[in-house]
Amino acid sequence: KRRVAVLISGRGSNMEALADACAAPDYPAMIAGVLSDVEDAPGLQAAARRGIATAALPRGDFASKREHEAAIHRQLVAWRTEFVCLAGFMRLLSGEFIAPWQGRIINIHPSLLPRHRGLDTHRRAREAGDAEHGCSVHHVTAGMDEGPVIAQARVPVLAGDTSDTLGARVLAEEHQLYPEALRALIAETP
Ligand code: GAR
Repeated sequence: KRRVAVLISGRGSNMEALADACAAPDYPAMIAGVLSDVEDAPGLQAAARRGIATAALPRGDFASKREHEAAIHRQLVAWRTEFVCLAGFMRLLSGEFIAPWQGRIINIHPSLLPRHRGLDTHRRAREAGDAEHGCSVHHVTAGMDEGPVIAQARVPVLAGDTSDTLGARVLAEEHQLYPEALRALIAETP
């Protein structure tokens, strides 16, 4: 199995969807470790309960962004990471950090990219009057939510939707899409 590290900042439901997929014997990946920039991220506890290795590396423990990223990189190497999945990791990574993982670092974003980069995507989709919304898995580049899209899933925006009901519909799709997209990336990456 290929070794995947998951970077999170919060709840970690996409991390858990990946871990669930990895539990299947025929899935091509395993979770090598879960790393968070938030010490008390609920997702870290969820990972630990599953017996997955975890690391917390808060930005405040480091003198600079560069040193913080260097520590993250060292942890990934220590886990013998081959692929990196960002899953609700709420920090922009530098080009210098991304370079050694190019083609093997991906993110999930709760919109149909290139629409609605950034935060608060469900509210913005509703306010824009979008008939359709969804989620995207994309390659990570130095720009925010900007790399080439690997896979997308679509949901309808319904008349009575709030950001919460729409967000829940999208999240259910995220949990299906991310493991599928990772499987596809692994299949085409020697
Ligand atoms: C997910 O909806 C993910 O797409 C989004 O944060 C949520 C994390 O939830 N990511 C971004 O907005 C990145 N720009 P989770 O911690 O339960 O996976």
